[in-house]
Amino acid sequence: MLKRQRLYINIDHVATVRQARRGSEPDPVAAARLCERSGADGITAHLREDRRHIQDVDIERLATTVTTVLNLEMACTDEMLAIATRLRPHQVTVVPERRQEITTEGGLDVSRDPDRLRDGIARLNDAGIRTSLFIAPHRDAIERSRELGAAAIELHTGQYAHCADSQTLTALQDASRFGANLGLSVHAGHGLTVANVRPVSAIPEIEELNIGHSVVSRAIFVGLAEAVHELRDVMDEARASS
Ligand code: PXP
Repeated sequence: MLKRQRLYINIDHVATVRQARRGSEPDPVAAARLCERSGADGITAHLREDRRHIQDVDIERLATTVTTVLNLEMACTDEMLAIATRLRPHQVTVVPERRQEITTEGGLDVSRDPDRLRDGIARLNDAGIRTSLFIAPHRDAIERSRELGAAAIELHTGQYAHCADSQTLTALQDASRFGANLGLSVHAGHGLTVANVRPVSAIPEIEELNIGHSVVSRAIFVGLAEAVHELRDVMDEARASS
């Protein structure tokens, strides 16, 4: 039986609902607490440059109240590096960011401005923060991520989630094996749901999944605790039967 796969819940879209009224409800910190009580192994939040959902004060509060671990998603900018090195989350996942995009549409272009990325990763590593790069499941991006000094890669599962065909799944399987053989920890995320997560959970090298939108969506109908339980159960079943 495969080792349990970590489930980190991304609570950004709890903040999206709050920001619709610029009020205080629903509180993403309270949501994080409930996710942890319901079986999440970690909490993920993306502090975007445009602050469209998670706000600085949310990250400050999460950094002191999360009892599992906090995975801060951020762009590799001076502003974000200063916040991360001050708050010292367990992990930073570096993501690409474009102001106009609806969500993080693609993986990080690790060949663009490698010196800036290498320097940012070094600053995070020096602060004792685990570093992960959100990349497409391509071998060249994986090799470059290792050269840049990251401890982990998070494979973008968007294409798989979009078609869930054998080609996109094979790409994830190959990339996971390739990354693990290079000594990288392998994570995955984006667009994963109870309906499509099984084959991704069954990939032995993938240690951690980051899932957000589908959990918050499902929570509208069954509640957040149940939405987390559902995912946890499907992931555990997939690992047990592999
Ligand atoms: N991982 C990363 C790096 C992301 O940027 C996102 C989306 O913010 C997710 C995982 C979660 O994606 P989703 O909300 O589609 O589950």
